[in-house]
Amino acid sequence: MDSFIIEGPGKINGEINVSGSKNSALAILFASILTDEKCVLNGVPELSDIKTTYELLSYCGKSCFFGFNRFEISESSKLLTEAPYDLVRKMRASVLISGPMLARFKSVKFSMPGGCAIGVRPIDIHLEGFKKFGADVKLDGGYVILKVKKLKPAVIKLKFPSVGATENLMMTASLIEGETVIKNAACEPEIEDLGEVLNKMGAVVSGAGTEEIKIKGSKKLRGFEHKVIPDRIEAGTFLILGAMSAQKLTVKNVIPQHLTALIEKLKKTGAELIVNNDEIKVCSNKHIKPINLKTEPYPGYPTDLQSQWMAYMSLAEGKSQIEENIFENRFMHVAELIRMGADIEIKRNTAYIKGVKKLIGATVMASDLRAGAGLIIAGANAYGTTKIRRVYHIDRGYEKIEQKLASVGLNIKRTEE
Ligand code: EPZ
Repeated sequence: MDSFIIEGPGKINGEINVSGSKNSALAILFASILTDEKCVLNGVPELSDIKTTYELLSYCGKSCFFGFNRFEISESSKLLTEAPYDLVRKMRASVLISGPMLARFKSVKFSMPGGCAIGVRPIDIHLEGFKKFGADVKLDGGYVILKVKKLKPAVIKLKFPSVGATENLMMTASLIEGETVIKNAACEPEIEDLGEVLNKMGAVVSGAGTEEIKIKGSKKLRGFEHKVIPDRIEAGTFLILGAMSAQKLTVKNVIPQHLTALIEKLKKTGAELIVNNDEIKVCSNKHIKPINLKTEPYPGYPTDLQSQWMAYMSLAEGKSQIEENIFENRFMHVAELIRMGADIEIKRNTAYIKGVKKLIGATVMASDLRAGAGLIIAGANAYGTTKIRRVYHIDRGYEKIEQKLASVGLNIKRTEE
Protein backbone atom coordinates (compact mmCIF):
# COMPACT_ATOMS: atom_id res chain seq x y z
CA MET A 1 0.00 0.00 0.00
CA ASP A 2 1.35 3.42 -0.96
CA SER A 3 1.77 6.37 1.37
CA PHE A 4 2.39 10.08 0.85
CA ILE A 5 5.24 11.80 2.72
CA ILE A 6 4.77 15.55 3.06
CA GLU A 7 7.34 17.95 4.51
CA GLY A 8 5.51 21.02 5.76
CA PRO A 9 4.69 23.78 6.01
CA GLY A 10 4.79 24.21 2.23
CA LYS A 11 4.69 27.44 0.26
CA ILE A 12 2.32 26.96 -2.65
CA ASN A 13 2.76 29.02 -5.80
CA GLY A 14 1.96 28.77 -9.47
CA GLU A 15 -0.70 27.15 -11.65
CA ILE A 16 -2.53 23.87 -11.14
CA ASN A 17 -4.83 22.17 -13.66
CA VAL A 18 -8.10 20.52 -12.64
CA SER A 19 -8.94 17.19 -14.29
CA GLY A 20 -12.33 16.05 -15.60
CA SER A 21 -15.04 15.25 -13.08
CA LYS A 22 -14.84 11.69 -11.70
CA ASN A 23 -18.49 11.69 -10.63
CA SER A 24 -19.75 12.99 -13.96
CA ALA A 25 -17.58 10.57 -15.95
CA LEU A 26 -18.81 7.55 -13.96
CA ALA A 27 -22.49 8.23 -14.67
CA ILE A 28 -21.88 9.03 -18.35
CA LEU A 29 -19.77 5.89 -18.88
CA PHE A 30 -22.61 3.74 -17.55
CA ALA A 31 -25.02 5.53 -19.92
CA SER A 32 -23.19 3.69 -22.75
CA ILE A 33 -25.11 0.57 -21.67
CA LEU A 34 -28.25 2.23 -23.10
CA THR A 35 -27.02 1.82 -26.69
CA ASP A 36 -25.13 -0.63 -28.90
CA GLU A 37 -23.54 2.27 -30.78
CA LYS A 38 -20.05 3.66 -30.17
CA CYS A 39 -19.67 6.09 -27.25
CA VAL A 40 -16.70 8.39 -26.68
CA LEU A 41 -16.02 10.41 -23.54
CA ASN A 42 -13.13 12.89 -23.51
CA GLY A 43 -11.41 14.54 -20.56
CA VAL A 44 -11.79 11.41 -18.42
CA PRO A 45 -9.39 11.46 -15.45
CA GLU A 46 -7.00 8.54 -14.92
CA LEU A 47 -8.34 7.22 -11.60
CA SER A 48 -8.85 3.83 -9.99
CA ASP A 49 -12.64 4.35 -10.07
CA ILE A 50 -12.43 4.79 -13.85
CA LYS A 51 -10.36 1.59 -14.05
CA THR A 52 -13.04 -0.24 -12.04
CA THR A 53 -15.70 1.07 -14.43
CA TYR A 54 -13.58 -0.15 -17.36
CA GLU A 55 -13.42 -3.61 -15.73
CA LEU A 56 -17.16 -3.71 -15.07
CA LEU A 57 -18.18 -2.60 -18.57
CA SER A 58 -15.72 -5.08 -20.10
CA TYR A 59 -17.02 -7.87 -17.81
CA CYS A 60 -20.52 -7.21 -19.16
CA GLY A 61 -19.25 -7.48 -22.74
CA LYS A 62 -18.54 -3.91 -23.88
CA SER A 63 -15.27 -3.33 -25.79
CA CYS A 64 -13.45 -0.51 -24.03
CA PHE A 65 -10.39 1.57 -24.82
CA PHE A 66 -9.00 4.15 -22.37
CA GLY A 67 -5.94 6.27 -23.03
CA PHE A 68 -4.90 9.92 -23.05
CA ASN A 69 -8.02 10.74 -21.03
CA ARG A 70 -10.25 9.40 -23.85
CA PHE A 71 -12.62 6.54 -23.06
CA GLU A 72 -14.14 4.68 -26.04
CA ILE A 73 -16.87 2.06 -25.67
CA SER A 74 -18.37 -0.15 -28.35
CA GLU A 75 -20.46 -3.30 -28.39
CA SER A 76 -19.65 -6.38 -30.36
CA SER A 77 -21.47 -9.11 -28.44
CA LYS A 78 -24.64 -9.61 -26.38
CA LEU A 79 -24.18 -8.04 -22.96
CA LEU A 80 -24.21 -9.91 -19.69
CA THR A 81 -26.81 -8.27 -17.44
CA GLU A 82 -24.98 -8.90 -14.22
CA ALA A 83 -22.67 -6.84 -12.00
CA PRO A 84 -20.73 -9.18 -9.68
CA TYR A 85 -19.92 -8.59 -6.01
CA ASP A 86 -16.14 -8.47 -6.57
CA LEU A 87 -16.43 -5.46 -8.85
CA VAL A 88 -19.36 -3.66 -7.19
CA ARG A 89 -17.73 -3.81 -3.73
CA LYS A 90 -14.75 -1.86 -5.14
CA MET A 91 -16.92 1.03 -6.22
CA ARG A 92 -20.43 1.86 -4.99
CA ALA A 93 -21.13 3.87 -8.11
CA SER A 94 -21.35 0.52 -9.95
CA VAL A 95 -25.01 0.64 -8.91
CA LEU A 96 -25.38 3.09 -11.84
CA ILE A 97 -25.20 0.11 -14.21
CA SER A 98 -28.59 -1.09 -13.00
CA GLY A 99 -30.82 1.65 -14.43
CA PRO A 100 -29.44 1.42 -17.98
CA MET A 101 -29.40 -2.41 -17.88
CA LEU A 102 -33.02 -2.56 -16.70
CA ALA A 103 -34.09 -0.11 -19.42
CA ARG A 104 -32.33 -1.93 -22.26
CA PHE A 105 -32.61 -5.59 -21.28
CA LYS A 106 -35.63 -5.54 -18.93
CA SER A 107 -33.64 -7.48 -16.37
CA VAL A 108 -30.48 -7.05 -14.32
CA LYS A 109 -28.82 -8.79 -11.39
CA PHE A 110 -26.37 -6.71 -9.40
CA SER A 111 -24.65 -7.03 -6.08
CA MET A 112 -25.87 -4.75 -3.32
CA PRO A 113 -23.09 -2.14 -3.10
CA GLY A 114 -21.52 -2.41 0.35
CA GLY A 115 -21.42 0.55 2.67
CA CYS A 116 -18.19 2.43 3.12
CA ALA A 117 -16.34 4.48 5.71
CA ILE A 118 -18.73 7.41 5.40
CA GLY A 119 -21.97 5.55 5.81
CA VAL A 120 -24.32 2.65 5.13
CA ARG A 121 -25.07 4.08 1.67
CA PRO A 122 -28.47 2.39 1.06
CA ILE A 123 -30.04 2.28 -2.42
CA ASP A 124 -33.72 2.27 -1.39
CA ILE A 125 -34.43 5.48 -3.35
CA HIS A 126 -33.08 3.85 -6.54
CA LEU A 127 -35.21 0.73 -5.96
CA GLU A 128 -38.37 2.71 -5.16
CA GLY A 129 -37.92 4.49 -8.48
CA PHE A 130 -37.48 1.24 -10.43
CA LYS A 131 -40.74 -0.04 -8.86
CA LYS A 132 -42.52 3.13 -10.07
CA PHE A 133 -41.40 2.20 -13.61
CA GLY A 134 -43.14 -1.19 -13.07
CA ALA A 135 -40.07 -3.30 -12.27
CA ASP A 136 -40.23 -6.27 -9.91
CA VAL A 137 -37.45 -5.92 -7.29
CA LYS A 138 -36.09 -8.97 -5.44
CA LEU A 139 -33.21 -9.20 -2.96
CA ASP A 140 -31.44 -12.57 -2.99
CA GLY A 141 -28.15 -13.46 -1.34
CA GLY A 142 -26.75 -9.95 -1.39
CA TYR A 143 -27.89 -9.42 -4.96
CA VAL A 144 -30.69 -7.23 -6.30
CA ILE A 145 -32.66 -8.80 -9.15
CA LEU A 146 -34.77 -6.44 -11.27
CA LYS A 147 -37.21 -7.76 -13.87
CA VAL A 148 -39.94 -6.11 -15.91
CA LYS A 149 -42.09 -6.99 -18.94
CA LYS A 150 -42.60 -3.43 -20.10
CA LEU A 151 -41.37 -0.30 -18.39
CA LYS A 152 -43.86 2.56 -18.12
CA PRO A 153 -43.15 6.27 -17.70
CA ALA A 154 -43.75 7.55 -14.17
CA VAL A 155 -43.83 10.60 -11.91
CA ILE A 156 -41.27 9.91 -9.19
CA LYS A 157 -40.77 12.11 -6.12
CA LEU A 158 -37.48 11.29 -4.40
CA LYS A 159 -37.61 11.28 -0.61
CA PHE A 160 -34.11 12.82 -0.68
CA PRO A 161 -32.32 14.46 -3.65
CA SER A 162 -29.98 11.50 -4.09
CA VAL A 163 -27.37 12.11 -6.80
CA GLY A 164 -27.00 8.46 -7.77
CA ALA A 165 -30.72 7.73 -7.71
CA THR A 166 -31.42 10.78 -9.89
CA GLU A 167 -28.79 9.63 -12.41
CA ASN A 168 -29.95 6.00 -12.39
CA LEU A 169 -33.61 6.91 -12.92
CA MET A 170 -32.81 9.48 -15.63
CA MET A 171 -30.96 6.81 -17.58
CA THR A 172 -33.79 4.27 -17.20
CA ALA A 173 -36.37 6.86 -18.28
CA SER A 174 -34.34 7.68 -21.42
CA LEU A 175 -35.38 4.36 -22.99
CA ILE A 176 -39.04 4.57 -21.92
CA GLU A 177 -41.41 6.15 -24.47
CA GLY A 178 -43.62 8.80 -22.85
CA GLU A 179 -42.76 11.40 -20.23
CA THR A 180 -41.16 10.62 -16.88
CA VAL A 181 -40.90 13.36 -14.23
CA ILE A 182 -38.38 13.17 -11.37
CA LYS A 183 -39.28 15.52 -8.51
CA ASN A 184 -36.98 16.58 -5.66
CA ALA A 185 -34.15 15.57 -8.00
CA ALA A 186 -30.50 16.25 -7.16
CA CYS A 187 -29.29 19.47 -8.81
CA GLU A 188 -25.54 18.77 -8.96
CA PRO A 189 -23.66 19.87 -12.14
CA GLU A 190 -22.92 16.19 -12.83
CA ILE A 191 -26.68 15.65 -13.29
CA GLU A 192 -26.75 18.46 -15.86
CA ASP A 193 -23.76 16.92 -17.67
CA LEU A 194 -25.50 13.54 -17.83
CA GLY A 195 -28.67 15.23 -19.11
CA GLU A 196 -26.67 16.74 -21.98
CA VAL A 197 -25.33 13.32 -22.93
CA LEU A 198 -28.78 11.69 -22.82
CA ASN A 199 -30.03 14.44 -25.14
CA LYS A 200 -27.15 13.73 -27.52
CA MET A 201 -28.25 10.08 -27.45
CA GLY A 202 -31.79 10.98 -28.54
CA ALA A 203 -33.74 11.32 -25.32
CA VAL A 204 -35.44 14.65 -24.58
CA VAL A 205 -34.30 15.72 -21.12
CA SER A 206 -35.29 19.09 -19.67
CA GLY A 207 -34.64 20.57 -16.23
CA ALA A 208 -31.47 18.55 -15.49
CA GLY A 209 -29.69 20.52 -12.75
CA THR A 210 -33.00 21.65 -11.23
CA GLU A 211 -35.31 19.92 -8.74
CA GLU A 212 -37.71 18.76 -11.46
CA ILE A 213 -36.40 16.81 -14.43
CA LYS A 214 -38.59 15.74 -17.36
CA ILE A 215 -37.41 12.91 -19.59
CA LYS A 216 -39.11 11.87 -22.84
CA GLY A 217 -37.53 8.53 -23.60
CA SER A 218 -36.94 6.97 -26.99
CA LYS A 219 -37.26 3.37 -28.22
CA LYS A 220 -33.61 3.35 -29.26
CA LEU A 221 -30.73 5.63 -28.32
CA ARG A 222 -27.69 6.68 -30.34
CA GLY A 223 -24.04 6.67 -29.27
CA PHE A 224 -22.40 9.94 -28.20
CA GLU A 225 -19.18 11.92 -28.09
CA HIS A 226 -18.84 14.27 -25.11
CA LYS A 227 -16.26 16.10 -23.01
CA VAL A 228 -16.78 15.76 -19.27
CA ILE A 229 -17.05 18.89 -17.09
CA PRO A 230 -14.16 19.83 -14.79
CA ASP A 231 -14.08 18.25 -11.34
CA ARG A 232 -15.48 20.89 -8.97
CA ILE A 233 -14.42 18.91 -5.90
CA GLU A 234 -10.80 18.64 -7.04
CA ALA A 235 -10.91 22.38 -7.85
CA GLY A 236 -12.37 23.15 -4.42
CA THR A 237 -9.69 21.05 -2.74
CA PHE A 238 -6.96 23.10 -4.45
CA LEU A 239 -8.72 26.39 -3.61
CA ILE A 240 -8.85 25.54 0.10
CA LEU A 241 -5.19 24.51 0.03
CA GLY A 242 -4.37 27.79 -1.70
CA ALA A 243 -6.38 29.79 0.84
CA MET A 244 -4.24 28.22 3.57
CA SER A 245 -0.79 28.35 2.09
CA ALA A 246 -0.49 30.06 -1.28
CA GLN A 247 1.31 33.27 -2.03
CA LYS A 248 -0.60 33.01 -5.33
CA LEU A 249 -2.19 29.84 -6.75
CA THR A 250 -4.08 29.83 -10.05
CA VAL A 251 -6.52 26.92 -10.31
CA LYS A 252 -7.21 26.33 -14.00
CA ASN A 253 -10.00 24.46 -15.90
CA VAL A 254 -12.74 25.50 -13.48
CA ILE A 255 -16.42 26.38 -13.90
CA PRO A 256 -16.74 29.01 -11.12
CA GLN A 257 -20.54 28.78 -10.94
CA HIS A 258 -20.11 25.16 -9.78
CA LEU A 259 -18.27 26.48 -6.70
CA THR A 260 -20.32 29.48 -5.53
CA ALA A 261 -20.92 28.08 -2.03
CA LEU A 262 -17.19 27.49 -1.46
CA ILE A 263 -16.09 30.80 -3.01
CA GLU A 264 -18.47 32.69 -0.75
CA LYS A 265 -17.16 30.87 2.34
CA LEU A 266 -13.50 31.32 1.40
CA LYS A 267 -13.97 35.07 0.95
CA LYS A 268 -15.51 35.28 4.44
CA THR A 269 -12.38 33.69 5.92
CA GLY A 270 -10.32 36.55 4.50
CA ALA A 271 -8.75 34.64 1.58
CA GLU A 272 -8.29 36.72 -1.56
CA LEU A 273 -9.89 35.26 -4.69
CA ILE A 274 -9.94 36.54 -8.26
CA VAL A 275 -12.61 34.65 -10.22
CA ASN A 276 -12.21 34.58 -14.02
CA ASN A 277 -14.34 32.61 -16.47
CA ASP A 278 -12.36 29.37 -16.39
CA GLU A 279 -9.80 29.88 -13.61
CA ILE A 280 -9.64 31.17 -10.04
CA LYS A 281 -6.61 32.83 -8.42
CA VAL A 282 -6.32 32.45 -4.64
CA CYS A 283 -3.92 34.03 -2.13
CA SER A 284 -3.79 33.02 1.50
CA ASN A 285 -4.40 35.47 4.27
CA LYS A 286 -2.19 35.03 7.34
CA HIS A 287 -5.20 35.50 9.64
CA ILE A 288 -7.85 32.89 8.89
CA LYS A 289 -11.27 34.00 10.14
CA PRO A 290 -13.28 31.08 11.60
CA ILE A 291 -16.46 30.49 9.55
CA ASN A 292 -19.20 27.96 10.35
CA LEU A 293 -20.36 25.47 7.74
CA LYS A 294 -23.33 23.20 7.03
CA THR A 295 -23.11 20.63 4.23
CA GLU A 296 -26.19 20.55 2.01
CA PRO A 297 -27.34 19.18 -1.34
CA TYR A 298 -26.19 21.30 -4.30
CA PRO A 299 -26.10 24.29 -4.64
CA GLY A 300 -25.37 24.25 -0.91
CA TYR A 301 -21.86 23.59 0.41
CA PRO A 302 -20.79 20.11 -0.79
CA THR A 303 -20.15 17.30 1.67
CA ASP A 304 -17.19 16.28 -0.52
CA LEU A 305 -15.36 19.44 0.58
CA GLN A 306 -16.14 19.07 4.29
CA SER A 307 -12.93 17.41 5.48
CA GLN A 308 -10.85 19.90 3.47
CA TRP A 309 -12.69 22.77 5.18
CA MET A 310 -12.07 21.19 8.57
CA ALA A 311 -8.31 21.13 7.92
CA TYR A 312 -8.58 24.82 7.02
CA MET A 313 -10.54 25.76 10.17
CA SER A 314 -8.05 23.84 12.33
CA LEU A 315 -5.69 26.81 11.89
CA ALA A 316 -8.32 29.57 12.06
CA GLU A 317 -8.11 32.33 14.67
CA GLY A 318 -11.05 31.23 16.80
CA LYS A 319 -13.91 28.74 17.07
CA SER A 320 -16.00 27.35 14.23
CA GLN A 321 -18.37 24.48 13.68
CA ILE A 322 -19.14 22.11 10.82
CA GLU A 323 -22.51 20.37 10.53
CA GLU A 324 -22.47 17.29 8.28
CA ASN A 325 -25.99 16.70 6.97
CA ILE A 326 -25.45 14.33 4.04
CA PHE A 327 -23.62 11.29 5.41
CA GLU A 328 -23.97 9.82 8.88
CA ASN A 329 -20.33 9.01 9.45
CA ARG A 330 -18.20 11.52 7.62
CA PHE A 331 -15.94 12.57 10.50
CA MET A 332 -13.35 9.78 10.23
CA HIS A 333 -10.69 12.41 9.48
CA VAL A 334 -11.24 14.15 12.85
CA ALA A 335 -9.20 11.65 14.87
CA GLU A 336 -6.37 11.97 12.34
CA LEU A 337 -6.41 15.78 12.47
CA ILE A 338 -6.35 15.61 16.29
CA ARG A 339 -3.18 13.47 16.01
CA MET A 340 -1.68 16.45 14.17
CA GLY A 341 -2.59 18.81 17.01
CA ALA A 342 -6.02 20.02 15.91
CA ASP A 343 -8.55 20.83 18.64
CA ILE A 344 -11.85 19.30 17.52
CA GLU A 345 -14.82 17.88 19.38
CA ILE A 346 -17.74 16.02 17.82
CA LYS A 347 -21.33 16.10 19.12
CA ARG A 348 -23.77 14.10 16.93
CA ASN A 349 -23.34 15.43 13.38
CA THR A 350 -21.48 18.59 14.31
CA ALA A 351 -17.75 19.11 14.76
CA TYR A 352 -16.66 21.98 17.04
CA ILE A 353 -13.23 23.29 16.07
CA LYS A 354 -10.97 25.57 18.09
CA GLY A 355 -8.25 26.95 15.85
CA VAL A 356 -4.70 26.20 17.01
CA LYS A 357 -1.49 28.07 16.28
CA LYS A 358 0.30 25.13 14.70
CA LEU A 359 -0.31 21.65 13.34
CA ILE A 360 2.49 19.13 13.77
CA GLY A 361 3.34 16.48 11.19
CA ALA A 362 2.37 12.91 12.14
CA THR A 363 1.58 9.53 10.63
CA VAL A 364 -2.11 9.48 9.74
CA MET A 365 -4.45 7.29 7.74
CA ALA A 366 -6.85 8.13 4.94
CA SER A 367 -10.28 6.56 5.56
CA ASP A 368 -12.04 7.72 2.41
CA LEU A 369 -11.29 9.73 -0.69
CA ARG A 370 -12.10 13.18 0.63
CA ALA A 371 -10.82 12.57 4.18
CA GLY A 372 -7.50 11.78 2.50
CA ALA A 373 -7.63 15.08 0.66
CA GLY A 374 -8.22 16.89 3.96
CA LEU A 375 -5.14 15.21 5.43
CA ILE A 376 -3.02 16.34 2.48
CA ILE A 377 -4.13 19.92 3.16
CA ALA A 378 -3.34 19.54 6.86
CA GLY A 379 0.05 17.97 6.12
CA ALA A 380 0.90 20.78 3.71
CA ASN A 381 0.41 23.25 6.58
CA ALA A 382 1.87 21.22 9.45
CA TYR A 383 5.37 21.61 10.84
CA GLY A 384 7.52 18.58 10.08
CA THR A 385 6.83 15.32 8.31
CA THR A 386 3.33 13.94 7.70
CA LYS A 387 2.93 10.40 6.43
CA ILE A 388 -0.51 9.63 5.00
CA ARG A 389 -1.18 5.92 4.75
CA ARG A 390 -3.75 4.13 2.49
CA VAL A 391 -3.51 6.69 -0.28
CA TYR A 392 -5.38 4.21 -2.50
CA HIS A 393 -8.44 6.06 -1.22
CA ILE A 394 -7.07 9.30 -2.64
CA ASP A 395 -6.12 7.66 -5.94
CA ARG A 396 -9.82 6.96 -6.49
CA GLY A 397 -10.57 10.62 -7.10
CA TYR A 398 -7.46 12.75 -7.58
CA GLU A 399 -5.50 12.30 -10.81
CA LYS A 400 -1.70 12.56 -10.37
CA ILE A 401 -2.24 14.63 -7.22
CA GLU A 402 1.32 14.36 -5.89
CA GLN A 403 2.73 15.50 -9.27
CA LYS A 404 0.28 18.40 -9.41
CA LEU A 405 1.03 19.55 -5.85
CA ALA A 406 4.81 19.12 -6.24
CA SER A 407 4.61 21.33 -9.36
CA VAL A 408 3.29 24.21 -7.23
CA GLY A 409 5.93 23.83 -4.54
CA LEU A 410 4.70 21.24 -2.05
CA ASN A 411 7.30 18.76 -0.84
CA ILE A 412 5.24 15.58 -1.34
CA LYS A 413 6.44 12.12 -2.33
CA ARG A 414 4.72 8.76 -2.84
CA THR A 415 6.33 5.76 -1.14
CA GLU A 416 5.48 2.12 -1.66
CA GLU A 417 5.26 -0.13 1.39
C1 EPZ B 1 -22.66 10.89 -4.92
O1 EPZ B 1 -22.80 9.73 -4.12
C2 EPZ B 1 -21.17 11.09 -5.07
N1 EPZ B 1 -20.59 9.92 -5.74
C3 EPZ B 1 -20.53 11.27 -3.70
O2 EPZ B 1 -19.16 11.54 -3.91
C4 EPZ B 1 -21.16 12.48 -3.02
O3 EPZ B 1 -20.62 12.62 -1.72
C5 EPZ B 1 -22.67 12.26 -2.93
O4 EPZ B 1 -23.20 12.04 -4.26
C6 EPZ B 1 -23.39 13.46 -2.32
O5 EPZ B 1 -23.13 14.61 -3.08
C7 EPZ B 1 -20.71 9.80 -7.09
O6 EPZ B 1 -21.31 10.63 -7.76
C8 EPZ B 1 -20.08 8.59 -7.71
P1 EPZ B 1 -26.44 10.27 -2.64
P2 EPZ B 1 -24.26 9.05 -3.98
O7 EPZ B 1 -27.23 9.18 -3.23
O8 EPZ B 1 -25.01 9.18 -5.25
C9 EPZ B 1 -28.66 8.66 1.21
C10 EPZ B 1 -16.89 11.25 -3.69
O9 EPZ B 1 -16.17 11.55 -2.77
N2 EPZ B 1 -29.30 7.73 0.26
O10 EPZ B 1 -26.73 11.69 -3.04
O11 EPZ B 1 -24.09 7.71 -3.39
C11 EPZ B 1 -27.19 8.33 1.38
O12 EPZ B 1 -27.01 7.34 2.37
C12 EPZ B 1 -18.21 10.60 -3.43
O13 EPZ B 1 -16.65 11.48 -4.90
C13 EPZ B 1 -30.34 6.93 0.72
O14 EPZ B 1 -30.73 6.98 1.89
O15 EPZ B 1 -24.90 10.02 -2.89
C14 EPZ B 1 -26.59 9.65 1.80
O16 EPZ B 1 -26.78 9.82 3.19
C15 EPZ B 1 -18.36 10.24 -1.96
N3 EPZ B 1 -30.93 6.05 -0.14
C16 EPZ B 1 -27.44 10.67 1.03
O17 EPZ B 1 -28.64 9.99 0.64
C17 EPZ B 1 -30.54 5.96 -1.45
O18 EPZ B 1 -31.14 5.16 -2.21
C18 EPZ B 1 -26.76 11.21 -0.22
O19 EPZ B 1 -26.49 10.12 -1.06
C19 EPZ B 1 -29.49 6.78 -1.90
C20 EPZ B 1 -28.88 7.67 -1.03
